[in-house]
Formats: sequence, structure tokens, C-alpha cells
Amino acid sequence: MRFTQEDVPISDSEFVILRDLIRERLGLVYEDGKRDLLADKLSGRVLERGFNSFIDYYYLLKYGPGAEEEWPHVMDALSVQETYFWREMDQVRALVDVLVPQYVAARRPEPLRIWSAACATGEEPLTIAMALAEAGWWGRVPIRIQASDASPSALARARLGVYRERSFRALPPALRERYFSEAGGCWRVAPELHARVDWSLANLTAPEEIARMPPAAVVFCRNVFIYFSTAAITKAVRLLADRMPPPSYLFVGVSESLLRLTTGLELQEIGGAFVYVKV
Ligand SMILES: C[S@@+](CC[C@H](N)C(=O)[O-])C[C@H]1O[C@@H](n2cnc3c(N)ncnc32)[C@H](O)[C@@H]1O
Repeated sequence: MRFTQEDVPISDSEFVILRDLIRERLGLVYEDGKRDLLADKLSGRVLERGFNSFIDYYYLLKYGPGAEEEWPHVMDALSVQETYFWREMDQVRALVDVLVPQYVAARRPEPLRIWSAACATGEEPLTIAMALAEAGWWGRVPIRIQASDASPSALARARLGVYRERSFRALPPALRERYFSEAGGCWRVAPELHARVDWSLANLTAPEEIARMPPAAVVFCRNVFIYFSTAAITKAVRLLADRMPPPSYLFVGVSESLLRLTTGLELQEIGGAFVYVKV
């Protein structure tokens, strides 16, 4: 018998145990009203694995020998990869205009590491790389950018470095001309700029995956906590902070606030942007 996506119903109890498992593993929250959305996003995987019920899929994820291979597919199915170049630039400007000069003045022996910790398809770390290039920092200061995401499909696109029109909605046209070349109706990022970024797969709520990332003095973790439970935000911030040598700086999205959580970080205004500082 063949099943189409509509053919996989999800019961209340299946929804509850599956969404709890997803929240525990990936931090992502599906409220009661999001039952159909979750079912819709995962139906394809249920069928792909040869099941016709969510309970079988739940058992695979919870106990199956193939669980570890399946979770990246779950992440791909649930990942919201909405992003674009030159997004929320106040924070990037604070980095380029204030934090980098501070780093230079402090004459630190180690390179300045900047981490885009939910980089989606790569627009955020490449924006940082472009802004640093525009300010003339590359070649003058040892800087590395590391970018990570939990979605293998997002990361594959980031590694490819080819972008459609939607990604350019906020980027000044002159910068597109400077850092991209047209490729079959899309735009390919200049290899020198792309090579400024190291790409990794890392789940923000998995201690062993975050512990593998090099410590970074500046972390951008933007527009991902909006999808997380409070417990997952607290856990992720603690894991990130463990990888941040003081003094170091955490930027979250403009609609995200850590103020009601106990993080040990101090909210400061730097260069016109709000940033959580590990002092
Ligand atoms: C909306 S995008 C944000 C992209 C970029 N930071 C920005 O602000 O434009 C959210 C990203 O978070 C990633 N994500 C969701 N849960 C995650 C987790 N547990 N660990 C790491 N990344 C996660 C998704 O795969 C997605 O690419």
C-alpha cells in the first residue's frame, strides 16, 4: 500500500511524546496548537522510513539502532532557514567598529575567533566576513570565522556558497558586485571570502558537539532561540559561555532576550548594539 503525506495521522499522545523528545534533543518547541505543523513537517520522514504511524517513528528515534542516523533528517525537516545578507547590521557594526579595535589594542596573542552558531545557509558568517573586508581588517589582524548549524542540508548549502535573489534583499548592490559572481541565475560568493569561514555541524543543545568547537571571543547566535524552550536556551547559553574566554561577547537576535534567565552574562550596549558580555 502507498501512503501520501496526508495519510499519516498523529494522535494526541503520539504528538506529546514526539514533541517532548524533539524538545529534549534539539531544543525546539512545538506548542499544543502546532500538532499539525509538526506532523506535516515529519510525515515525509515517517513514510521514507517505511512506517505508516508516528508511534513507530517515535520508537525509531527513541530506541532504534538507526536513531543517530535519523536525527539529522529530523533537524533538516524542522529547520527554519530564513536568513539573508546584511541582517541586523548594528551588531555586526559593533563588532567591526568597536570589538575588533579593542582586540587590536589589547595585543592578545591568540587570533580573534568569531562564531556564527546557527549559521543556516551561511549568510550571517559571510556578512561578517564582508563587513570585516570592507573595514580593511583582513590581513591586518589574525581573525578566523567559524560557522555551525545542526541542519546538514543548511550546512551543505553554506559550503556550496551559491545564493538566490532572496538572500540579497538587504545587501547594498555594490557589495554584491564586489563579492559575488553570477552563476546560472544565482550568485556565487567569491572563493577568497568563502574561505574565511570554517563550517561545522553542531547542535547547540548537545554538549559533546559544542565542546568540539574552538573557543570564540565573539559569538553570534541569532534568531534561533525564538524556536527554543526556556530550558534549551539556558542550556545552549551555558554551553556557548563555556567556550567563550573572558572577555567575550554574545549577540542574540533583536527579538530575543536572555534577561529573564540566569546566564552569568552581563547585558551591555556596545557601539549602539546590545550584547551579552562574559566579563
Ligand atoms: C532562522 S535561522 C537563523 C540564521 C541566522 N543566524 C540569522 O539570524 O539570519 C535558524 C537556524 O537555527 C538552526 N537550528 C535550529 N535548532 C538548532 C540547534 N539545536 N542547534 C543548532 N542550530 C539549530 C536551524 O537549522 C536554522 O538554520
